[in-house]
Amino acid sequence: MNAPTGRPQCGHTQAFGLDTGPVSTAPVIQPEFFEREREAIFRHQWFNLLKRADEIPNPGDFFVRDIEVLGTSVVVARGPDGQVRAFHNVCTHRGNRLVRAADGCVKGWQCDFHGWTFATDGTVQFVPDEGQFFDLDKSKMGLPSVHLDTWAGFLFVNFDATPRQTLEQAMGDFNQDLKPFPFDQMICAGRWRYHVKANWKVTMNAFQEGYHVAFVHKRSAPDAFTGTDNPYCNISHMKLQPNGNQHLSVPGNPAHDLSPTEQIAFKFGSTFTQGTGGRGAYPGTQQDKSDDWGFELNILFPFSRINVGAGWYYLDAFWPVSQNETVYELAYYFPKPKSAAEMISQEFSKIVLRDLSREDLYTNEVTQRALNSGAIKNITLSDQEAAVRHLYRTVERLVGR
Ligand code: FES
Ligand SMILES: [Fe+2]
Repeated sequence: MNAPTGRPQCGHTQAFGLDTGPVSTAPVIQPEFFEREREAIFRHQWFNLLKRADEIPNPGDFFVRDIEVLGTSVVVARGPDGQVRAFHNVCTHRGNRLVRAADGCVKGWQCDFHGWTFATDGTVQFVPDEGQFFDLDKSKMGLPSVHLDTWAGFLFVNFDATPRQTLEQAMGDFNQDLKPFPFDQMICAGRWRYHVKANWKVTMNAFQEGYHVAFVHKRSAPDAFTGTDNPYCNISHMKLQPNGNQHLSVPGNPAHDLSPTEQIAFKFGSTFTQGTGGRGAYPGTQQDKSDDWGFELNILFPFSRINVGAGWYYLDAFWPVSQNETVYELAYYFPKPKSAAEMISQEFSKIVLRDLSREDLYTNEVTQRALNSGAIKNITLSDQEAAVRHLYRTVERLVGR
């Protein structure tokens, strides 16, 4: 059976109190709207850094993340005391960018302008020619901190002086619905970044519905997510939260005809295209809500996701850069492979996901170009695209129309 069994009788749109009218293209083609999003949303949100605290396990481990939409850069480091902290990546002497490396393990960082040195807990360690300064109190010159918190082991930062809500509050129903997933039993197996010439919402929209699957992915996934009972990949279960978070269960087709490579891959591990494949239920999923469960998309408003399947998960984010530019980043997690065969199986799954994503991203760019022409003023959405509508309505509510 490959029918959307978890769909409410009245449809998703009505079930979540959404309207059925047209959706304006202004929020994706107007640079002024992007500026308003920056002030109303991005300055206050928790940013999912797509990394786990256990990926920087040792004192001195660090990584840098540039947050382009806020024109800033953050360093996340495990200090000598074992605590993980986040700092603005700026030297407190005259404001030089302090850390140039993307990641590493160090005792501290030396600014390459005048040599001030900082420990990985943010404290100043050494100031060259210190006697030339006036009343310099080094204990007050540490790196400016950024709010950092973890959820299920994932690192998040918030640049507000006082965050409007805690990370736990921002996660909403995911605290019950998603947190029990065994995230800590899997490790990062691959990471990609793509620069996309499209608005962040246009880019994300292609990942919020199954309607496009039969067309955009007709060659790469001809029957993995679509079948005779569900030819247009209707989402089997949806939960749209008032805070903008979304859950979508993507259907899998139990009658999916495995390619020879896929048969080998599935023998040694879980693959992206196989659904449960009889491998049992995972905690922290909504498998029991539909008979055709394939995998799940969990969108943390505004633009990052924690997507889970049977034996894998991937994190991704649609990092806004400008009205017309987005960086799409994806990190794939699997159980640590115990054999070369398991590793090959995981590589297969990674490549399938990579190819599917590229097909989506290409479509996003040409869609954005067509929207920028101004030829249409609204987009028209079906019930299967309720999550797309929900995103626009949430953004409009926060930013204003
Ligand atoms: S700006 Fe960093 S030492 Fe001067
Ligand atoms: Fe897609």
